[in-house]
Amino acid sequence: MMSMKTTISVIKCDVGSLAGHHVVPQPLLNIAERRLKEAAETGLINSYFVFNVGDDMELLMVHNKGVDNTEIHTLAWNVFQEAAKKATNLKLYGAGQDLLVTAFSGNVRGLGPGVAEMEIEERASEPIVVLAADKTEPGAWNYPLFKIFADPSNTAGLVIDPKMMCGFKFEVLDVIENKAVVLKCPEEMYELIALIGTPGRYVIRRIWRASDDMICAVSSTTRLSLIAGRYVGKDDPVCIIRAQHGLPALGEILAPFMHSYFVEGWMRGSHWGPLMPVGLKDARCTVFDGPPRVVAIGLQICNGKIACDDDGKPMIADLFADVAFDMARQEAMQFAAILRRMGEFMPARLGPEELEYTGLKETLKKLEKRFKKVE
Ligand code: F6R
Ligand code: MG
Ligand code: MG
Repeated sequence: MMSMKTTISVIKCDVGSLAGHHVVPQPLLNIAERRLKEAAETGLINSYFVFNVGDDMELLMVHNKGVDNTEIHTLAWNVFQEAAKKATNLKLYGAGQDLLVTAFSGNVRGLGPGVAEMEIEERASEPIVVLAADKTEPGAWNYPLFKIFADPSNTAGLVIDPKMMCGFKFEVLDVIENKAVVLKCPEEMYELIALIGTPGRYVIRRIWRASDDMICAVSSTTRLSLIAGRYVGKDDPVCIIRAQHGLPALGEILAPFMHSYFVEGWMRGSHWGPLMPVGLKDARCTVFDGPPRVVAIGLQICNGKIACDDDGKPMIADLFADVAFDMARQEAMQFAAILRRMGEFMPARLGPEELEYTGLKETLKKLEKRFKKVE
């Protein structure tokens, strides 16, 4: 018997938001909800969950069509188009922000939306965690993914679960030169850290278990500015991670978020900021357009669908909506206050090569003639 494969697709897009780059308002989420409901009724997808993190609309879809499927990508594209149109009509802020290209040819990759997709052979039980963040970039997952899949001080299973002792393989993408390398941990841990310690350039794209090449994690790796040739907002990232039974346990996946850590992004995509784990109700950006926020959605895949409750509603765990992350939230606000006290002085602001706005270049140009040679 051929085993059935299931695909988990998370496709996201900033189609416009309320009161600045703050939050996706309900009328836009309603459009996604309606369209994905229709797609489930016609059998194109099996299950879905619509949510937002700040100004990013997130479509989580479970289906049997494989990754990079034209029908699935067209569905997402049409949702974003309709939502952007509504955003335009309501004069919402940044309407259609991430829809950078008008000509769509069956795949949203390279057109603006972020994509993380994984095709799996369902295990006896298949727990999944989806991470999604706003006001940061795909390299923001480097640190937690390293901790989860390579750091024995985070993941006890690397030391005491024989099924994990073989280690994991990491595909690292160089987003500037568009080339990738696979590194195996623990053997090549130092080489891995050497690369992913520069999260603006080297981004973990996929992770496999080394013993059987089972896919364990996939993240989105778009760089919008490289597509559009100019700043159009940060590439707020998503990531899909499989959990348990020879993979990191749910708690090992969440442990890196017990503390806040620093990511690039925040105000105008040009500052270091503390990543703050929040529940869905707090997934909105306020202070200095942040602080950058991350949500974690937990679910079980069951026969090609998201496991449902008695009313047929997908069961979704809002993992950071928990007192266990209060300390990280407190820390994040303390770090935020420290950084903001420094204003536009590095390291609060990113280095000149990473700045998303062009004001500094213009200032230098303006002052060019006034600079006098000093002997
Ligand atoms: C960062 C972000 C915001 C905007 C900021 C200015 O990714 O989206 O911090 O950069 O609100 O936005 P504009 O230039 O649209 O007024
Ligand atoms: Mg926006
Ligand atoms: Mg955003």
